[in-house]
Formats: sequence, C-alpha cells, structure tokens
Amino acid sequence: MRVIINSQEQSNELVAMEYVKLLKDKPASVLGLATGSTPLGLYSKLIEHYKSGAVSFKDVKTFNLDEYIGLSSEHEQSYRYFMNKNLFEHIDIDLKNTNVPSGLGADEKACEDYERSLIEAGEMDIQLLGLGTNGHIGFNEPLTPFDSVTRIVKLADATREANKRFFSSIDEVPTHAITMGISSIMRAKKIILMVFGAAKAEVVKQVVMGKPTIAVPGSLLQLHNNLDIYLDFEAASRLG
Ligand code: GLP
Repeated sequence: MRVIINSQEQSNELVAMEYVKLLKDKPASVLGLATGSTPLGLYSKLIEHYKSGAVSFKDVKTFNLDEYIGLSSEHEQSYRYFMNKNLFEHIDIDLKNTNVPSGLGADEKACEDYERSLIEAGEMDIQLLGLGTNGHIGFNEPLTPFDSVTRIVKLADATREANKRFFSSIDEVPTHAITMGISSIMRAKKIILMVFGAAKAEVVKQVVMGKPTIAVPGSLLQLHNNLDIYLDFEAASRLG
C-alpha cells in the first residue's frame, strides 16, 4: 500500500498521469470506474489529456462499480448519466465498450451477467474507488462479506443521507443499488483509492491504519498487493 498526500489538484494530475501511462503501454486496457464527487477532477484532467492528444480511449473497456436501483439512464442522478456527462461524451471511447449496471429491471440474473462480463473482460488494469463517509466502497456497506460479488444491496441510512444533496429530498434517494462486490473489486491488478476532504479524515484513519475489517469496507483494500491511496491534506489530517 502506498499513501500519497497532496493537494486535490495535484492528486488529480498524478492519478491522470497513471492513466496516460497505462494507456500508452496498453491501449486496450480494462478500467474500473467510479462516480461521486471525488473523481470529477480526475475526469476533467483525463478529458484535457485526451483533447491535447496525450491519450486515446478508443480501445478501452470500462466497468462502473454501481448504479441506483429504479433510476433510468436518462435520470440526471443515475450513474450512467453521470459517466456520459462527465467523461464518456468528451473522449473517444466507444459507448459500446462502457458498462454501467442497469438500475432498471435489475435482478439476480442481471447481477450474475454483470459479474460474468467483468470476468470475461479479464482483470481490470486499474480499479478506481472513492470512499463513503461510513467506509463503503462502491455500494458495499459496512459488514459486506469479503467474498461478495455483484448483487443488489440496501443502502445504509448514512449513505442515503450523504447522497441526498444530489436529490430534491431524502424520499427521492433510492433505497437500493446494484454494486460490484468486494471480491469483484479485489480482482483488479491495481486499485487507486482517492479520498478528499476533512469529513472523511476519521474514516481514512481507519482505512489506512486500522486492522482490515468488514466493519469498514475500505480497510479491506489493505489486503490488495497493489493499492495506491491518494489523499488531500484534509483527508490525511488524522494520520498523525
Ligand atoms: C457513493 C458511491 C461511491 C462513492 C461514494 C463517495 O455512494 N457509490 O462509489 O465513492 O459515494 O462519494 P463522494 O465522492 O461524492 O464523496
């Protein structure tokens, strides 16, 4: 595990350079992508690098971590909409190579199909992650088993509360989501976890310095042999 502490701006640039380097070496990479406010700066940088001709996503395949149940791809808070608006529409990726679990009609078979397509695509070259304030990764809430795969989950109250800022009221925040599991995430060749802001300083301490425990899903990432954690100064402020 490497912990890299910088300003947000510099973290975004350093992570963007990881992708530029990877895609130069391996244009047909498989990328695991994340949503939330954390990766927005990184996605802007990737768009800049694409526009400057430094990188192409033409042969890249992507898999997103999760999606809200009940939201269509046209819903402005769906993760498919987020990915299209904040990244895919601005780069040369073939939308057919982008995978976001569907929030409509998700059932056991849809979960199995998503997990199978992940496995068939081969190991993800980089899995990008953000962190929930309760330590969740993807939508794997506290106490998610280590061997979990793609499935439908009930969102923790804390998660719905944290994400209500994107909706007009808490009642509109979906109660369930479809998410890749911890074991789906751990199969990646490399994991990059990005965490910004003072509100996550305490959970970052548990993720980085605590014993790996399912009570804090992010702490399980310590068990991965190629994990880079990018923090801003505020998120790192409790590391001592
Ligand atoms: C959501 C997503 C996670 C994300 C987390 C943190 O619930 N499912 O993938 O990492 O929230 O979001 P943010 O980056 O907005 O703090």
